[in-house]
Amino acid sequence: MSKKHWEDVYQTKPTDQVSWYQEQDQKSLELIQRLRDKHKLDLTVQIIDVGSGASVFIDQLLELGFKHIHVLDLSQTALGKTQTRLREKNLHAEQITWLVEDICTVMLPANYFDLWHDRAVFHFMVSAEQQQQYISNLKTSLKKGGHLIMSNFAEDGPTQCSGLTIQRYSIEELQEKLGADFHLMHFEHDIHLTPWGSEQKFLHSVWAYQPNS
Ligand SMILES: C[S@@+](CC[C@H](N)C(=O)[O-])C[C@H]1O[C@@H](n2cnc3c(N)ncnc32)[C@H](O)[C@@H]1O
Repeated sequence: MSKKHWEDVYQTKPTDQVSWYQEQDQKSLELIQRLRDKHKLDLTVQIIDVGSGASVFIDQLLELGFKHIHVLDLSQTALGKTQTRLREKNLHAEQITWLVEDICTVMLPANYFDLWHDRAVFHFMVSAEQQQQYISNLKTSLKKGGHLIMSNFAEDGPTQCSGLTIQRYSIEELQEKLGADFHLMHFEHDIHLTPWGSEQKFLHSVWAYQPNS
């Protein structure tokens, strides 16, 4: 059902007419820059953007010079839109691995990614099973010492996104959900304006993955 929902969205709506559209993903850029400045995040690291949709985040990563980018989404149409846009901008998409997969059930390589980026995706995991599957995949495929950037609706944010019920988070609730292996490095709140001017309160957070075992 979920895959069909997202395919329908991307097939019927222009990229800039979905509530989560951004001309630039300014906040993610800032958070990546923090990691580059403070933790020497190298341009050769393996980055995955889960639930990437048709986001310009990928263009930004290429423009910054990141070499190994993995783009995952349920919707082939969404990834096709990104591919077309990158071609039009003459950005080199051959540096990218494209994965049309469900982040809950996909088999990702173990201990592989240096950075996992998620903007407005984990909050769609509303059942305990989905949350557990997502976090299990995250913990399996993120390297020890790797980083997670996650942006979701804040505790006082909207209760729905794309017509679907979502799970809102305070930073304490997110910490509890992710577990003690994730060490909070930074968080902040801000407001996203939809293309039609509605306000959406977001919680942005950066985590270091440091499991004990
Ligand atoms: C609100 S959009 C955000 C898109 C993008 N991250 C951005 O910020 O523009 C949520 C995205 O998550 C994708 N998605 C939802 N559930 C997913 C799942 N289980 N596995 C992979 N992608 C999923 C949808 O197809 C959609 O592109």
